[in-house]
Amino acid sequence: MRCVDRACDTGADALTLERASLWGPAGGGSILERRRSVFRPKCRGREIPRRSARRRISSRAGVSLPVESERRRDLDMPRDTARRARARILANTAAMSDPATAPAKRHKLVGHKNFKRNNPMSDKFAVHRFHHVEFWCGDATTTSSRFAVGLGMQRVAKSDLSTGNKTYASYALKSNDLMFVFSAASYVPEDEARTSEARAASQPHPGLDADAMRAFCAKHGMAVRAVGVVVDDAEDAYAKSVSNGGRGVMPPARLFDDGVDETSGDAPHQRVAEVALYGDVVLRYVSRHGGHAGTFLPKYQEEHPEPGVEPLCYGLTRLDHAVGNVHDLLETVDYISSFTGFHEFAEFTAEDVGTVDSGLNSMVLANNSEFVLLPVNEPTFGTKRKSQIQTYLEQNEGPGLQHLALKTDDIFATIREMRRHGGGRGGFEFQKPASEDYYEKLPERVGENALTPEQFQEVKELGLLVDKDDQGVLVQVFTKPLGDRPTVFIEIIQRIGCERVTGGGKDGEPPRTEQAAGCGGFGKGNFSELFKSIENYERTLKV
Ligand SMILES: [Fe+2]
Repeated sequence: MRCVDRACDTGADALTLERASLWGPAGGGSILERRRSVFRPKCRGREIPRRSARRRISSRAGVSLPVESERRRDLDMPRDTARRARARILANTAAMSDPATAPAKRHKLVGHKNFKRNNPMSDKFAVHRFHHVEFWCGDATTTSSRFAVGLGMQRVAKSDLSTGNKTYASYALKSNDLMFVFSAASYVPEDEARTSEARAASQPHPGLDADAMRAFCAKHGMAVRAVGVVVDDAEDAYAKSVSNGGRGVMPPARLFDDGVDETSGDAPHQRVAEVALYGDVVLRYVSRHGGHAGTFLPKYQEEHPEPGVEPLCYGLTRLDHAVGNVHDLLETVDYISSFTGFHEFAEFTAEDVGTVDSGLNSMVLANNSEFVLLPVNEPTFGTKRKSQIQTYLEQNEGPGLQHLALKTDDIFATIREMRRHGGGRGGFEFQKPASEDYYEKLPERVGENALTPEQFQEVKELGLLVDKDDQGVLVQVFTKPLGDRPTVFIEIIQRIGCERVTGGGKDGEPPRTEQAAGCGGFGKGNFSELFKSIENYERTLKV
C-alpha cells in the first residue's frame, strides 16, 4: 500500500493511492482472494482565487427560519452568549422530542427475523452519497492531527487565521472518498466586533457560530456536528425537507471562492443547508454548481503534502454508515424518513443482540441508492446492566452520533497500519478481541469458503470479527471511544461479494462493477461478542 502525488489529466495535483491486492492470486478459492482493487481518488487541485470582500447568502426556500440578519444579531451579543447558545441547542433538542410537535409514529419494530427488505425508491429529493462528517472540538489542530495519524488521512484543506478566518479553525482530512472535518471556535477579543466585514467575509460556512461551537463542546465534548450528504441542489433539498416536517437549522447558503463574481449566473459555487437530524447533529446538504472543483467548501485553502513526504493513507475508501443513538427510536426514524423519504433497510431488536446484560433496538434508514445508510439505536431497559446506549445518552448529554463505519478494500492491511500507529503512538485503540471459542467456531458459522485458512488465522491475530448475510460477507472491528467520554467510536469494515455491473450502453459509457451497499449486513452475528467487549470496557469506567 502506498500513496503518491501524481499529475492527473487536468494537470492538477492528484492524491493517488495505488495498492496491490494482498489477497493472493486472482481466481483463488475464497471470495476474498478474488478481490483486487486499485484506488483512484479524484483529481484535486486548482488555483486559489483572491479573497473577496463579501459573501452571498441565498434563501430561496422561502421559509421563515433564522437567516443571516438574525444570526448577526446573535453575534452582536456580549461574550456570555455561550450560555444562550447552549440554551438554544437545548431548546432545539427538546423541540425534536416534544410529543406535541412530533409526528405520529408510522414505523414499528418487527425484529430482524421478520423484517422483509424492500426499496420503495421513496426519496423526496436526490441524495447520492456521503460528502463529509464534521466534528466540533476544543482544538482543531490537535484533534485533526490525531485522526490523521490514527486513520491514515491526509490534510487537504484548511480555514483558520492563516486564511483570514477569525471565527473558527477548520481542517479537512481525506482518504479516497472519506472526508472528515474538524472545527473549533477561535479566540475573539472582548472588544472586537463579532460581525465586522473582515470577519464575515473570511468565514467559509455561514452556519458556524463560535459561541454555539463552544456550547456544543461544553455539552458533548468532542463530537460529530454534521453528517454531510451530496444532493443535486441543497436549496431544493432544504425546501422539500422543511415542507415535509424537517426542522431547519441553517437555510440554504451559496458559497463562493474569494475573487469570484457572485453576480454572474454561472459562477462556480457550492450550496449548503442544514436540517436537524437527531440531538444537536445536523444533516448537511451539499451541492456543487457552475463546475466548482474545490476539495471541500469554497474559501477553504487547499493543502498538499510537502515534496518528498508520502501522504498518510491506510486504505480507507469511504463512509459506509453513520449511526445515531436516541431516546426514542420510532419517533426519530419517523422524523427522518418524513422529510427525506428514506426507507427502512434493516432492523434489530433486543433479542437479536444476544447478551443478557444490556440491549438496544435498532433500525437502519437508507436513501434510494442505499449508499447513505443511517442506522439509529435506542436503549432497552429492565436488564441486569445499563444499556450501552443509555450510557452513551448520559455521557453525551443527549442523543448524538455513536459510530462511523469506515470502509476499506483490504481490512488486514488497514488494521495492521492502524495498530502500528495506535495506542500510545497517537492513534486509536481497539476493543478487546473476541473469545477463543468465537474464533474456533467461526469457519463453521460463516462457512469454510468465506476465507482461506490463512485469512481465518489473520482475522484471529488482528482481533477482527466476521459475519455474513444472504448476500455477502462482512469483516469488521471496533475502536474504543475516540475521546475522553465513552461516546463516539469508529468501526472499520470490509464488505465482500454482492458485485453488480452498472452503467454501460449509454454514450459509449463502459460498464463497471460496483458493490451493492450494505453487503454482508451489519454484523448481527457478532452483536453478542461485540457487546460483551463493550460491556467489559464500560465496567472499567465505573459509569
Ligand atoms: Fe456499524
